Amino acid sequence: MEIIIQPTAEAATRIAARVMARLLREKPNAVLGLATGSTPLQLYRELAQMNLDWRRVATFNLDEYVGLSPQHPESYHNFMRENLFQHVNILQKNVHIPDGMAADIPALCERYEKEIRAAGGIDLQLLGIGTDGHIGFNEPSSSLASRTRIKTLTPQTRRDNARHFGGEAQAPHHVITMGIGTIMEARHCLLLAFGGKKARAVAGAVEGPVTAMNPASVLQLHPRVTLCLDNAAAARLKMKQYYRWVFENKPEWQKF
Ligand code: F6R
Repeated sequence: MEIIIQPTAEAATRIAARVMARLLREKPNAVLGLATGSTPLQLYRELAQMNLDWRRVATFNLDEYVGLSPQHPESYHNFMRENLFQHVNILQKNVHIPDGMAADIPALCERYEKEIRAAGGIDLQLLGIGTDGHIGFNEPSSSLASRTRIKTLTPQTRRDNARHFGGEAQAPHHVITMGIGTIMEARHCLLLAFGGKKARAVAGAVEGPVTAMNPASVLQLHPRVTLCLDNAAAARLKMKQYYRWVFENKPEWQKF
């Protein structure tokens, strides 16, 4: 794992933006796995300002709430439209987000997996992390080999999301999410985490045992993972001085 610790979320985001921009310049038909939530908001703003060509880029979002139509203001369809897609020249036909209103969810999930494979697999998977260690919406106890499927959110995640729905009672219980096995097939995983609320989950993911109780810890088994953290999210990492030294002393050819 490459662990990049920056003083602020803004600085960590700038590095993540450079990683993604480089990929889009080197591979104009890159396949991106995208995340929603508050973590990537600034990243999407930066990417939109970078004058990148998105015409041949394909995207697959990690997840969507079951029961929310693409027009719902809190749907991830709407989130992606408002925060990224309407600001770049991506083609609608290349955008993939699970349909929260699908009548046959297992069939949709199977199709989603096929579409990812048909696109050639995901080059770069952007990830946030839940306060309970979830990636996508793979909550603790998720199978580390899981594929795209329906999941039930934990009370903790519903509390974390309540602010978007005007209270916990209205927060959805069910989501469609790429599985952990699906995420692990991406060629590069780029995980962003900011703020002290994420510190425990980040420490478990990086320095704890690989366990379904902290789904992000499975990334220890992935050959190419980059974490962009601010100081607060990195606060509980035992080896943070070492990670900082590694980043500051990279050989020239490895720099971002
Ligand atoms: C969103 C997703 C989730 C979030 C996580 C953190 O598509 O898959 O794993 O990344 O819940 O959310 P924020 O960024 O709002 O703290």
